[in-house]
Amino acid sequence: MTATGAAPGKVILFGEHAVVHGQPAIACTLSDRGVASTCTADPDGPRLDMPEWGQSVRPATTDRAVEAVPRAFALALAFVGLPAEARLRVTVEGNLPPSVGMGSSAAFSVALLRGLAAFAQRPLTEADLLEGGTQLEGVFHGDPSGLDHTTVALGGCVYFRRAGSDQDKVVRRIALPAPVHLAMGVTARAGNTRQLVARLKTRAADAPRAFAPVFDAIGALAGEGERALEAGDWARLGVLFDVNHGLVNALGVSTLACELMVDRARAAGALGAKLTGAGGGGAVIAVCEDATHARAVAAALDGLPEVRAFATTLQA
Ligand code: MEV
Repeated sequence: MTATGAAPGKVILFGEHAVVHGQPAIACTLSDRGVASTCTADPDGPRLDMPEWGQSVRPATTDRAVEAVPRAFALALAFVGLPAEARLRVTVEGNLPPSVGMGSSAAFSVALLRGLAAFAQRPLTEADLLEGGTQLEGVFHGDPSGLDHTTVALGGCVYFRRAGSDQDKVVRRIALPAPVHLAMGVTARAGNTRQLVARLKTRAADAPRAFAPVFDAIGALAGEGERALEAGDWARLGVLFDVNHGLVNALGVSTLACELMVDRARAAGALGAKLTGAGGGGAVIAVCEDATHARAVAAALDGLPEVRAFATTLQA
């Protein structure tokens, strides 16, 4: 028997990092990037192969295991009700580079849960998938806001705010009136989300009066961004990207590679550009007029050292 599951990659349009601190954020899945899991019966299982990421692992049955993927595999098996020694092999493949800000761990988690649930013939409700995603993303990132796997599990454009001591969780879809064309650049250097989030928490706790207004300003951009997206006003979206980029830089998570990409994208005529994801390594998105324009901006980014760039569209 063979069972499959899939999940798209995502980019954060507004609010990375600030979302961890209770601010609203917007993320959207990509129409042409993602991962798929294929589960087949195998007497030598359980095994999980990820050829592109160079991993082939068994589930970690002790919580002393340091590697995230084996621990996530064990959790996913248990979550769908399969035994730890299940005789199956899972292959996860796709076109999402890991740890660059495209939601690779969230897409991995959701595609794995969907594939295993189909193999176990256990239907997963949306609520199940979000709960399972929370557990697996916790293995990768410690205390994730939930933005990445919620967006990847629901698909499309999502306005999100995590629950806090004095606020309720908010999750709502944003309908895009037309495709949004992006140029995206990623560097070879991977960022470590867990470390970046922890470092910012310390810095923000040490200087709350410096950081609180920046978080608030980023949160306000999510509201403005939602209106621009719904109106299909890409010029305004670009201006808001530019402002969000300046504020993310103030949080201390940008890199020279990101700054160069943002600068190059704007010089090539992008309507606006910003870092996307946790930073530290580097992924940048630039909003463009149309598909031709996005390819031209991507070509301009491709000229930078160690940058791989491409045009993509947001999933409406
Ligand atoms: C990582 O893709 C996004 C961050 O905001 C972390 C999180 O939301 O948990 C940096």
